[in-house]
Amino acid sequence: MTQRTHRVRPTVGGRIAGLASALLMAGLLLPVSPVSAQGSRIKIGLMLPYTGTFAALGTAITNGFKLAVEENGGKVGGRELEYFTVDDESDPAKAPENANKLIKRDNVDVLVGTVHSGVALAMSKVARDNNTLLIIPNAGADEITGPLCAANVFRTSFSNSQPGIAMGRVMAEQKKKTAVTLTWKYAAGEESVGGFKEAFEAGGGKVVKELFLPFPQVEFQSYLTEIAALKPDVVYVFFAGGGAVKFVKDYAAAGLKNTIQLVGPGFLTDGTLEAQGDAAQGLLTTMHYGEGVSNPKNAAFRAAYAKAYKVDPDVYAVQGYDAAQLLIAGAKAVNGDLTKRAELVKAMETAKIDSPRGAFALTRSHNPIHDIYLRRVEGKENKVIGVAVKNLTDPPRGCKL
Ligand code: PHB
Repeated sequence: MTQRTHRVRPTVGGRIAGLASALLMAGLLLPVSPVSAQGSRIKIGLMLPYTGTFAALGTAITNGFKLAVEENGGKVGGRELEYFTVDDESDPAKAPENANKLIKRDNVDVLVGTVHSGVALAMSKVARDNNTLLIIPNAGADEITGPLCAANVFRTSFSNSQPGIAMGRVMAEQKKKTAVTLTWKYAAGEESVGGFKEAFEAGGGKVVKELFLPFPQVEFQSYLTEIAALKPDVVYVFFAGGGAVKFVKDYAAAGLKNTIQLVGPGFLTDGTLEAQGDAAQGLLTTMHYGEGVSNPKNAAFRAAYAKAYKVDPDVYAVQGYDAAQLLIAGAKAVNGDLTKRAELVKAMETAKIDSPRGAFALTRSHNPIHDIYLRRVEGKENKVIGVAVKNLTDPPRGCKL
């Protein structure tokens, strides 16, 4: 784990504060009012992957978050921010310690993270135990906005089953009869495939084989041999980041691309097209974003992001951007005083987020209700070719909020 924190050194301001408390003790000064207490910086704990197969995703989320804050004058609820950053390495075993450090040692006001569902499940437990506000800018673990939902936990990305449900419907509508699924064996892969299977079979298809390999392994050869032998109508996979790049290239190199249709949630081809090149051309995916989503917010966002970071944004950048937008909406309602938790939560729950994906609201369990687009890879773009499911909400799964 690399710890890169940005702390405020005792400054002239700090020495003045010391003098003030001495005067206060001597009874020469009135106590600090809540308003001036709000003048301090809001501490944001960014717990994201900056190494490993999801490294690029963590960076895009960080960039998106910071862009929204910059566009808001560098402030949230009128207060400046101080960032504390932890590389979570997409390692669930290290997650409780990493989250606890941010909360107990660095005293962050808000925890933002992460990409990997297993890490996010551990973070959400720590956040619930400490009643720390948590905003999840990617990890889709269904349970977090299901039975594990909590007033202090929000998500600005998706739940894992959402893109899978959409692709299952599309493939059933296209009259595909048989499918094989392949993914990493952990919550995200299982739930993504679960959503696909549920919708595909409800539409008359049959998943004939579910294949798994441990996260984050990328030795795909034996699975490709098995797929070639099974000859399904379609193959649905969940992979992302570096793993998605390798899988798409290996699938094409094995000669399967033109014989058995490959589909997946948009993570398969998001932020990866440069590296995947020809191997990705024509692939169909389902996702709550696509480069060409046509609205003024997306156009402005894409231009601002490209200007700031010299690269084009992807879905992860959008989700990070929206995490900051959600926090900004809540903090505005309480004038920067995040201790007004009930008001803050209410404002976040009822916020309408003007997202580059299209404006969205949250479910009662704090997950976005959004359109899931159908996209086809054309050149370096995930071209939006339709809406697979409009206003997709989370299936009700036991959230008691
Ligand atoms: C997850 O673990 O929930 C996850 C990871 C990467 C993605 C999407 C979901 O691109």
